[in-house]
Formats: sequence, C-alpha cells, structure tokens
Amino acid sequence: MKNLNQSIESHYLKEGLFEDIVNRLKNQNIDLNNVKRSDIAGADEFHVRGAAVSKELANCIEIQGTSVLDIGCGLGGPCRMLAEEYDCNTTGIDLSNEYIRTANELSKLVKLDDKTTFIQGDATQLPFEDQSFDVVWTQHVQMNIPNKKKFYSEIHRVLKPSGYFIYYDILTKGKGEISYPMPWASNSNLSFLSKAEEMDLYLTDLGFTKKQSKDQTQAGIVFVDALVARLKECGPPKMGLNVLMGESTKPKLMNLLGHLKNDDLELKSGVYHK
Ligand SMILES: C[S@@+](CC[C@H](N)C(=O)[O-])C[C@H]1O[C@@H](n2cnc3c(N)ncnc32)[C@H](O)[C@@H]1O
Repeated sequence: MKNLNQSIESHYLKEGLFEDIVNRLKNQNIDLNNVKRSDIAGADEFHVRGAAVSKELANCIEIQGTSVLDIGCGLGGPCRMLAEEYDCNTTGIDLSNEYIRTANELSKLVKLDDKTTFIQGDATQLPFEDQSFDVVWTQHVQMNIPNKKKFYSEIHRVLKPSGYFIYYDILTKGKGEISYPMPWASNSNLSFLSKAEEMDLYLTDLGFTKKQSKDQTQAGIVFVDALVARLKECGPPKMGLNVLMGESTKPKLMNLLGHLKNDDLELKSGVYHK
C-alpha cells in the first residue's frame, strides 16, 4: 500500500513530461536552440492565472536580486520567471521526481540553469540549513499537506531574519462537501484544505507578521471560466495545463470553478514578514 507522499506523487505523475513538452515545441516549429520562457509558459506554472499572478506576487516586495525558495515548485516556471525578470537566485523543491527532472531540463532548454536549482524533497522536511533564504514562496501546494504546522514551521526555520514568506493558495470556506477530482487531488484522501483564519494563526503563532493579504477569487473565476470556455470551443491548447492534467483537465477545472463560484473555496495571496 502506498503512503500519502507516494499517492500524491502518483496523482501528479505524467511520465515523459519533458519529452512531451519538447515534442509540442517541435510540432509548433519552435527552434529548440532558441526556446523562450513564453514558449512553455502555458504549461510550466501550475496554478490559477499562471505567470500573471506570479509577477503580481513578486511585485509585493523588493524581490530583485534575492535568494528565493519555491516550495512545491512543480515544473519551475515561477523560479525561472524570478531568475530572468528579477535577477533572483532561485531554488525549487518538489515531491515529484518527474516534475524535478522536467524543471531542470526546462531550465537548461531556456538557458536559465545557472540561476535555478531544483531538488526533490518533502516540504515538511526541508533539506536546508536554518536561515538560508531571503524569501520563501509557495503557490497551490499546502492543499496536499496534512501537517500544516510542520509545513509553516519549516518555512519559518529556513527564512533569514527579516525575510518574507509569500503565498498564493486555495483555501476552504468550510461550508459544503467538495467534489473531486480537483487539479491537486483525484479524491478527498489527497486533499487537506484549510481555512484562511487557520493558516493565519499558524503563521502568527510562529512569530510572522502579516503584511498583506488579497482575495484573488474573482480574478481566478474569470481566468478559469475563460479556460473552460476555450477548452469546450477549441479543444486542448498546444501548450496548456492539459499537458499536466491530460484527459482530466476539464472535469478538474469545472469542479474548481463550481466551488469558487459557490463560495465553498477561495483564492488568496499574502505576504508575511519574519
Ligand atoms: C498544483 S501544483 C503547483 C506547482 C507550482 N507551485 C506552480 O504553481 O507551478 C502542486 C505541487 O505541490 C507538490 N507537492 C505536494 N505535496 C508536496 C510536499 N509534501 N512536498 C513538496 N512538494 C509537494 C506537488 O508535487 C506539485 O508539484
């Protein structure tokens, strides 16, 4: 029987992911010696609103030139964006071996491997010394993590004094039953949604000071609505989240959209100071 981390890794697993992305680039006649971040942008940020929201988060603090840890980094799109556009030195960690292999290969492909490092590991047991990073960043990850206390205390531990924690997350309003599959979980056994108040309590108990919090739900609904409409009208795009979710893209997005519209789930971002 699989343990939880193995089940979560299986949920996200898409074998040959990097090769699939390369084939999609070739099919669009993109020169493999000159691939740009924008060529892979549809697939390498696995959260609602992709690069647009990542840039919005980056602009919340003076992030230029800092060292950033992205926890649950997926394919590494946000790390590459921070490396290229904000001159950050970025490290990404993720449970998925296939995502980490793909993240490293994609960084080589777009020639950002000197400023991005990706390693496989568990967010609740970070393999870094205390006070290693100026900024810790996480987007759409904690829904897979039952031990929130350990997750946030690890973030606090690896942040330098006066460092910033930036999050962008899906949270529950604690009302109705959630329908699955969702992008982060095929069933409820892989999903550990928490409320915004609970997250805030974990963080303030650790000594963090809340600097900013923003409701991102409406912007998220507009984005997912458009994505679903395009999927229905035109079918899967050449480089989109369908690269990661395959056949289940539409049901997962429709479940997410329904629960955001029903006010069962919310999207939030925020900044905390150590
Ligand atoms: C929805 S994806 C988001 C990926 C990335 N943050 C992004 O926005 O592009 C969630 C990611 O969290 C990772 N993850 C889930 N549980 C984790 C854990 N305990 N430790 C590290 N990564 C984890 C998954 O492997 C997956 O890549």
